[in-house]
Amino acid sequence: MRAIAIENPGPDYRLVMAEMPKPRPGAGEVLIRVAAAGLNHADLLQAQGRYPPPPGAPDILGMEVSGVIESLGPGVRDWKAGDAVCALLMGGGYSEYVNAPLEGLLPVPAGVSVQDAAALPEAHFTVWTNLIDTARLQPGETVLIHGGSSGIGTAAIQLLAVRGHQVFTTAGSADKCAAVKKLGAARAIDYRSEDFVAVVKAATGGKGVDVILDMVGGDYVQRNMSAAAVWGRIVNIGFQKGFETQVNFTPLLVKRLTLAGTTLRGRTPAQKAAIRDALAKEVWPLIEQGRIRPILDSRFALAEAQQAHDRMRESGHIGKILLVP
Ligand SMILES: NC(=O)c1ccc[n+]([C@@H]2O[C@H](COP(=O)([O-])OP(=O)(O)OC[C@H]3O[C@@H](n4cnc5c(N)ncnc54)[C@H](OP(=O)(O)O)[C@@H]3O)[C@@H](O)[C@H]2O)c1
Repeated sequence: MRAIAIENPGPDYRLVMAEMPKPRPGAGEVLIRVAAAGLNHADLLQAQGRYPPPPGAPDILGMEVSGVIESLGPGVRDWKAGDAVCALLMGGGYSEYVNAPLEGLLPVPAGVSVQDAAALPEAHFTVWTNLIDTARLQPGETVLIHGGSSGIGTAAIQLLAVRGHQVFTTAGSADKCAAVKKLGAARAIDYRSEDFVAVVKAATGGKGVDVILDMVGGDYVQRNMSAAAVWGRIVNIGFQKGFETQVNFTPLLVKRLTLAGTTLRGRTPAQKAAIRDALAKEVWPLIEQGRIRPILDSRFALAEAQQAHDRMRESGHIGKILLVP
């Protein structure tokens, strides 16, 4: 089968097409004929050698795909060959075929094309587990989502708006702000020209927001604490502006804040299965009703994986970038 190999891993990596053995599904896995693979920021870090895959994960990039089940591993009963699915993976998605563990597997929601469904798994697994499980978001609470035009951000804004939350979000241009407002954000803040702390404080009568999802880090760690309400919860899923920063923790104490950080990839199969089940019950019906949709920026042929990475690195995208074998 054809799959993407990383030539010269490191800052100047190249993604090239290669011939690789077709995998055979093991126990608790299905083999998927890939219709599309979703790009994730972590793929760029992995190709640069800054995010090694966990032990046992395939070397091939790609943490989510959609497609059709080709064959079943031993003991798999709830799925059959020909089923249209999308899947969260440990890796291997930049390929014509990939093994998917059952704990990351969901059906393609009715009304969504098999190809577009590749945009769903990583974003919705991440959004659900961080906002609902970790931040314990309660009905009626206000939320700030940083990076609103990202794959993660576009999924989070839609889910929270549908669930009735007032959503503030940051994005890096007027065009991006306009796009994320259409997804349901009450206020999109152009972080290059506006101060999100001041905007959020003014819009909430000085109270601040109850929950913040951050992928930026650096000086945002301090500024998030300023923007948070009493008893606020701040969850970091990335530190694009740096893991190291000087912090004054007074607001943490005085406002009784919770700071949290999580990753998804290294969780146990049982933990991933619990998120999958929550998505099937709470989110997939909203997608099938057309109230949440995959937001697609662009599609590249699998052979153009390098150009797709360039698109993500330059950050002109709004929503997900897909690779199509
Ligand atoms: N921990 C986990 O489990 C987990 C899981 C999935 C994703 N993530 C992380 O979540 C982030 C998004 O992932 P993705 O795949 O959706 O990537 P992506 O589409 O490339 O998103 C990155 C986003 O960060 C935004 N951004 C950069 N600097 C910013 C700033 N100063 N203020 C506000 N926004 C800023 C960019 O927006 P502009 O272009 O407008 O600056 C862009 O929308 C990545 O950091 C990724 O590593 C973590």
